[in-house]
Amino acid sequence: MEVYADSAATTPVKPEVITKMMDIYETHYGNPSSIHSIGRDARKYLDESRRTVAKFFGVKPSEIIFTSGATESNNTAIKGIAYQQAHKGKHLITSKIEHHSVLHVFEQLEREGFEVTYLDVDTEGIVNLQQLREALREDTVLVSIMFVNNEIGTVQPMYDIDAIVAESNALLHVDAVQAVGHLPIDIQDFNIAALSITAHKFGGPKGAGVLYVKADTPVTYWQLGGEQETKRRAGTENVPQIVGLTEALTLANANLDDNNVHLMNLKNLFIVTLQERSVPFEINGSMTDSTGHIVNLYFPFIDVETMLTLLDLSGIYVSSGSACTAGSTTPSHVLAAMYENDDRAKHSVRFSFNELSTEQEIKYITMEIHKIYHKFKEEV
Ligand SMILES: Cc1ncc(COP(=O)(O)O)c(C=O)c1O
Repeated sequence: MEVYADSAATTPVKPEVITKMMDIYETHYGNPSSIHSIGRDARKYLDESRRTVAKFFGVKPSEIIFTSGATESNNTAIKGIAYQQAHKGKHLITSKIEHHSVLHVFEQLEREGFEVTYLDVDTEGIVNLQQLREALREDTVLVSIMFVNNEIGTVQPMYDIDAIVAESNALLHVDAVQAVGHLPIDIQDFNIAALSITAHKFGGPKGAGVLYVKADTPVTYWQLGGEQETKRRAGTENVPQIVGLTEALTLANANLDDNNVHLMNLKNLFIVTLQERSVPFEINGSMTDSTGHIVNLYFPFIDVETMLTLLDLSGIYVSSGSACTAGSTTPSHVLAAMYENDDRAKHSVRFSFNELSTEQEIKYITMEIHKIYHKFKEEV
């Protein structure tokens, strides 16, 4: 049996998405900036996608910028707001458990003379709200907090964060990459100034993302060239990918509740079955304030590299944490921020699922983990 359990890294592209994209590649291939009919035909699909994405988030089409993915969206929002607001203040706030496409940007800004406060998290991975209140100052211009963590699935108290930041001078950016398809996101419910998503985490293609920027938010846009995306992101729009992103977003939203119930059931089944099999483990993160699609587990009896290799040999594809750092030996910065035990990250595995994951797959994973545990118990 083969089990893909690395959906937080990327998801398979849905067949409906491929069909829509192929149609654009084959038939509506024009440059949406060309003024002849083939170009205008492609523009129709681009405009329609923008309207659909805007409607999904409850915002205006003009507030949607199509990008190459969340890394670009995060870079553009964070640097763009920080540079544009620098005359008002050079203090920025983020958390210690953000994705590297956020953290590395803040580190760069620090080198350029900004001051950054990195908020702590508790052992469930929840940002310390009191620390956020205390950290906000007159000269704080930007706060960036992720909605759902990509390694542990913890959902941040975004309404509280939003309300706290709204009382300050700062603007709020949200990396909502792992929230799409798991939480309803109506941006009108918040005061969010900018929000990033990427298509490949919810059944869309890689290399396609969105940056929402609230109207009149001061942002310095750095990519120069043509006048695409109303001069905010130069470069010919990738219409097939954008149409694919839009279709994937529509599908993810259509079945949100059913998918959530299904994924939560799988998560519970996973935990209960491991307990029944008497495998020693602990959950990294929260069982309640989390999405169903990510289960991060600490196995004290085995190191992560060995576990990943043995699972791979059993046809189970998982990772130790963020895919972007999976190739490196640096222990997870997320688990390091949550636990004092430095060793924990070296024994922790992230399993992540999508709506097509099945109970049978979960049972197979727990059976293989059980076998690995017994093999190691005997060898030790
Ligand atoms: C929370 C989070 N933010 C940002 C990214 C980066 O997205 P992309 O791969 O589209 O650049 C990812 C994906 O790894 C992610 O999980």
